[in-house]
Amino acid sequence: MNKQDFINSINDIRKNFESEISSIVSYDDLKQLKSKYIGRSSALNNLLCQIKYLPIDVRAECGSIANTCKHEIESKIKVLYDELCYKTDNLIDPTANPHKLPVGHQHFTTRAIDEITEIFERIGFYRVRYPEVEWDWFAFESLNMPKDHPARDEWETFFIDNIEVNEKYGRRILTPHTSSGQVREMLRVKPPIRMINISKCYRRQIDVSHTPMFHQFEGLVIDKGVNISHLKGVLDYFVTNFFGNNRKARIRPYHFRFTEPSFEVDVSCGICLGEGCKLCKNGWLEIGGAGMVHPVVLQFGNIDPNEYSGFAFGFGIERNYMMKSGISVDDIRLIYQNDIRFLTQF
Ligand code: PHE
Repeated sequence: MNKQDFINSINDIRKNFESEISSIVSYDDLKQLKSKYIGRSSALNNLLCQIKYLPIDVRAECGSIANTCKHEIESKIKVLYDELCYKTDNLIDPTANPHKLPVGHQHFTTRAIDEITEIFERIGFYRVRYPEVEWDWFAFESLNMPKDHPARDEWETFFIDNIEVNEKYGRRILTPHTSSGQVREMLRVKPPIRMINISKCYRRQIDVSHTPMFHQFEGLVIDKGVNISHLKGVLDYFVTNFFGNNRKARIRPYHFRFTEPSFEVDVSCGICLGEGCKLCKNGWLEIGGAGMVHPVVLQFGNIDPNEYSGFAFGFGIERNYMMKSGISVDDIRLIYQNDIRFLTQF
């Protein structure tokens, strides 16, 4: 190799380096470029090793040309390195939380309420809300349970002290059932009525199957010519839509003071589908009460029982939700203990 070949090779290296560095945008690529151009096995290093084979009078000059080229390359790499570090630093947000925050969801009671509302709205019911702090009269007297009537015992009511007793409406209570909305709705609007009243209810009971606060939904339909087959149709509709197409509704004779005739409503068991199993014993699970609105109740609501008839039903939300297929909770109190390990399962 002579001096000119040596200088040409250096110029080629410089030219190639210039063109390659102009397209580098990442730190990793820059590291590779560095080793390619000034690393131990780079073409430039190779040339530096060749100097000793050049004629003695050109060695110093060629050495200095090669070193200048090497320094140029080094300094350009350093400039780009600083630039890339600056950019990367600015991409880091030091205030960002390194941990992913857990995303919550609605409590299953809220979701059940939405689902039930939607099921009934599809067949023309509308949702109403009535007070949880209620008068005795709406919860009992207007429902054909006069003062001191023993039937009231079943409702385990919380009475509120220190509030004046109203002459007509009696004492203040925490409503023990959504049926207290029945006469309220009759006094609010004229028939036809198709209400679904969903609300918190309170009873003085706490054990594996009761919490002192729970939710009910109450259906009330009043129109001309309403009969039991309409009630059964609505119950069948609800049961297949809420529990599933393979589930059935059944009504059994019962007694409530505010409906006549009265029924208890069952849904076929989701495990054995009505055959009878360990969970349900006889194939059916009780989901609530229902019946044809008692004429006395219609009268309290200023509705003429000779002209109109109606049906009502009242179901517990927590109980019904837990009877949906695949959900088994052996202590209903867990629902309101706010233990996230329990709640996230739903
Ligand atoms: N209110 C009754 C209860 O809480 C249920 C019911 C509602 C029964 C409507 C008949 C008609 O047990």
